[in-house]
Amino acid sequence: MISIFQTLMSPPRLLPGGGAGTPRSAERAPGRVPAAPASGARERYFRLFELTTGADRETQQAAARSHLESLLSRASVSDCDLPDDPNSLPEWMSVNVASTGARYAGYLSRRHEGGPREYFASRSAALCVLRAIAPTKLVDGAWLYGTLAHAGDPLFGHLVRTYLEELGEGAPDKNHVGLYRKLLQTHQIEDWEVQPDSHFEQGAVQLALGACADEFMPEVIGFNLGYEQLPLHLLITAYELNELGIDPYYFTLHVTVDNAASGHARRAIQAAQEATSTASDPAEFWRRVRRGYALNDIGLGTTAAIEGFDLHNELLRVLGSKSAEGKFAHSDRCRIEGRTVNDWLASPDGVGGFVQALERKGWLVSGSDPADSRFWNLLHGERAQMFGVFSAYERQVVYDWIRGDTNKDGAAAPSVDNPAGDPRSVRPFHLQLRTRPGAAADLAEGLQRGLAANSEVEFDQQLASLDSPEARLAALLDQLHPSRHWTQTGLHATRLFVSAAM
Ligand SMILES: [Fe+2]
Ligand SMILES: [Fe+2]
Repeated sequence: MISIFQTLMSPPRLLPGGGAGTPRSAERAPGRVPAAPASGARERYFRLFELTTGADRETQQAAARSHLESLLSRASVSDCDLPDDPNSLPEWMSVNVASTGARYAGYLSRRHEGGPREYFASRSAALCVLRAIAPTKLVDGAWLYGTLAHAGDPLFGHLVRTYLEELGEGAPDKNHVGLYRKLLQTHQIEDWEVQPDSHFEQGAVQLALGACADEFMPEVIGFNLGYEQLPLHLLITAYELNELGIDPYYFTLHVTVDNAASGHARRAIQAAQEATSTASDPAEFWRRVRRGYALNDIGLGTTAAIEGFDLHNELLRVLGSKSAEGKFAHSDRCRIEGRTVNDWLASPDGVGGFVQALERKGWLVSGSDPADSRFWNLLHGERAQMFGVFSAYERQVVYDWIRGDTNKDGAAAPSVDNPAGDPRSVRPFHLQLRTRPGAAADLAEGLQRGLAANSEVEFDQQLASLDSPEARLAALLDQLHPSRHWTQTGLHATRLFVSAAM
């Protein structure tokens, strides 16, 4: 293997600075950031997600910096549950862990006594939440990206290690973003990018912290402190996904990786304590850690996504999303209550009226068996007129809506590949090629292996052609960027980085 860090210079230490400082007595109570009106978050997210270089990178960083400054200036107006003294962080964490444990025990006892699922009433509800939080989950760990440039400096050790573990240290089946991408692919939730701004606020903050870590290191440390603690929703989400036959591994992995005894939660505390104690002005440093902690509350969180789910609204959204193409796809003979389907679908706002008309005409009947539904039979089956128009997730929404209260059993909608609707036999979308059994999987695996081998060799050659350790480090860091680390080359580069840096 190429030796990357032969003469790697340790960059200047940035942690202990902490600015001019404010006397503790003059500190305002830092804490939660009030909800901001969503605007431009989606655009900001994708601009930061692109790996830019040179002047473009500086422009992106300047924009990220001013956005963070604006959020942080509002972060000190309400209260914060972090202790005043970083030495009290272990007790603070123990209290939180005990409280989460007690609430989870309460949840389990309600379930064992026959209580219903409390997060996901139906399978659609669970899948819709996975879609809603995708923009955040697909940049998991991004807030720590900027710490990589300080690998080798013991003061950054916990943060660098945490980032590399988010990347699964280069193992494809442990890379958190890769796992989430697979989850979305399996359930054909691939239109997460079109969601409203509020869904991108949190991910954009994480990308911004990663892009500007050197200027906002105390805030990065504070954000990390909040994000890596074990929340109740992680435990309940994993439990209920498992019950619904939806792979909970992404969530169960976080229960173990983020654990308080030795995992990311503990590392986050150690990083905060070590950095604060060595800062030139510990009080000011800690004030900024608390401001960064408050950034965890920006945007749509998992609990809000769960509470915001409404099956009827999701049905309207799914049908509305088809209206752009659908309005040109139907012949004039398709009429509901005298109006052509094209006319009903002429504007997305017309979808609500269209659904009511379908209900009045008996095409869509809530609380009925989908097998008897004219609308469902248009979507389901290889010879169905709208076969292939709706993704597996979208068909699930229609299926659950038609079934009404019986959807509480969490059954998967039947499909051509899964006629019985058995949730455990849902196959990943990308393997649904119609060739001899096993051929598609063999082909996909063979292609993957070939591509991986090529890209790894190419990357090794690129590294070998660079004549300075700084250039080699820069090439590696590009591959470990949030937009790339989950690719074949990114995983390979991560393994190189891990073997050189740890
Ligand atoms: Fe993670
Ligand atoms: Fe983590």
